[in-house]
Amino acid sequence: MDSRLRYFKPHSARIEKSIADEILYSLDCKQKFINSKFFYDSKGSALFEKICKLPEYYPTRTELSLLESLQDDLQKYVKTGCRLVELGSGASVKTQLLLDVLARYDGPLEYFPIDISDILVESSEQLLATYKKLHVTGIIDTYEGGLEFLKRFDQKKNLVIFLGSSYGNFTPKDGRDFLKTIHNTIKPGDLFLIGLDLTKDNHTLESAYNDSQGVTAEFNLNILSRINNELDADFDVTNFEHVAVYDTKQQRIEMHVKSLVDQTVIISKSGKTIYLKKNETIRTEYSYKFSLDQIQKLLKDAGFIILQTWQDEKNYYSLTLASRV
Ligand code: AVI
Repeated sequence: MDSRLRYFKPHSARIEKSIADEILYSLDCKQKFINSKFFYDSKGSALFEKICKLPEYYPTRTELSLLESLQDDLQKYVKTGCRLVELGSGASVKTQLLLDVLARYDGPLEYFPIDISDILVESSEQLLATYKKLHVTGIIDTYEGGLEFLKRFDQKKNLVIFLGSSYGNFTPKDGRDFLKTIHNTIKPGDLFLIGLDLTKDNHTLESAYNDSQGVTAEFNLNILSRINNELDADFDVTNFEHVAVYDTKQQRIEMHVKSLVDQTVIISKSGKTIYLKKNETIRTEYSYKFSLDQIQKLLKDAGFIILQTWQDEKNYYSLTLASRV
């Protein structure tokens, strides 16, 4: 099986350095924040898997059923010999639904997951066991680093997927820049499939981020434990509470951890002390929601041609397939 799995780690030194640098900077800002990418240590990733199965968290299951229903439509656009490139990775059912479409053709089946964590090695092994003709090339790097690697790699056709509404976690500017990077990476005839959460009533949105079992709260607060572990900090997690609210004007869920007391936190690794007032928050995530018109505009502005859009009957979620000239 191993001969069908290889992986590259183009920029490992740079990734490790940035965790300390980024967090120190962001906790020094007036509105303290921690980039949401730091949620995903092994505990955070396991909690996120749990979130995806919660009754209130509709995006995952809605996207999954959309993917099931678009398989035949998608085949019309996918040519033989097209490889699957996933921004983020997983042995998830979602990835498999797309591999199933590509596997309908004769010839090799190729999957390039791009993920900052080496979790992709483990998850790829499960895929290799399921698909006997599959070859996996894992790229352990940031999305940008992985795309740079892909750009120079070869001339094969790619179906690049960015699912789960992960795009919604970017700020608008970073998001627009990222779409341009994807557009500049792919070749004419390559395909890009993006899954995005749509705007909807506040109650549905806020329930999805304030689940009744408290899993999202645990996920949110775990970011502080991660900083304790990796930067030798002394956040007392019991002195914080989870907050998630929908800002209708900005069209985004904002997640914060709120300080319940006046407190001091020491980040030993860098010799830094942080002061938090009672009720002061550290923002941990933006999760933007989009209208269908906004999605079309975002993709067109980045240079894409839109081929097809799918959404569920409640209009909760959408998948858009795009290409470039
Ligand atoms: C990964 N990302 C798209 C999730 C979201 O909905 O923004 C992360 C998440 N945060 C809380 N629940 C899920």
